[in-house]
Amino acid sequence: MDALPVKMLIETAVRQLEYAYTPYSHFQVGAALLGEDGTVYTGCNIENAAYGPSNCAERTAIFKAVSEGARDFRAICIVGGPDGVLTGFTPPCGVCLQVMMEFCDPDAFQVVLAVSTEEYKIYRLRELLPMGFGAGNLKG
Ligand code: THU
Repeated sequence: MDALPVKMLIETAVRQLEYAYTPYSHFQVGAALLGEDGTVYTGCNIENAAYGPSNCAERTAIFKAVSEGARDFRAICIVGGPDGVLTGFTPPCGVCLQVMMEFCDPDAFQVVLAVSTEEYKIYRLRELLPMGFGAGNLKG
């Protein structure tokens, strides 16, 4: 398996910050999702006046990918900060972790949290969602 193209994923996620629609929180998030075939799917958070329909950057990227026929993913990079200023790591919310659990092998899928191309951490999905509920659990 090729080395994870971490720098490219971080740069791609950072580029999405300008598309984030965040009139309520002003907290901008960008995501870059790497498919097993090397395709990169991008996402940003998209808020809503009713708050509830807001969508996180990670789910935007995953839903874009799945809607285009992709289901095999290797990694996702997430960056975020107030007004798009990257001051710390932005971990995925529980809903996004659950959506990752639906499509990704938790022991293989990598989650890159970045502040810059020099400052980042890489986790396996399993570390962030240790007892994640997945399709296998429905079989009893
Ligand atoms: N948000 C994301 O897009 N991804 C995360 O991982 C955490 C939170 C968004 C949701 C909302 O638009 C804003 O950040 C503040 O919670």
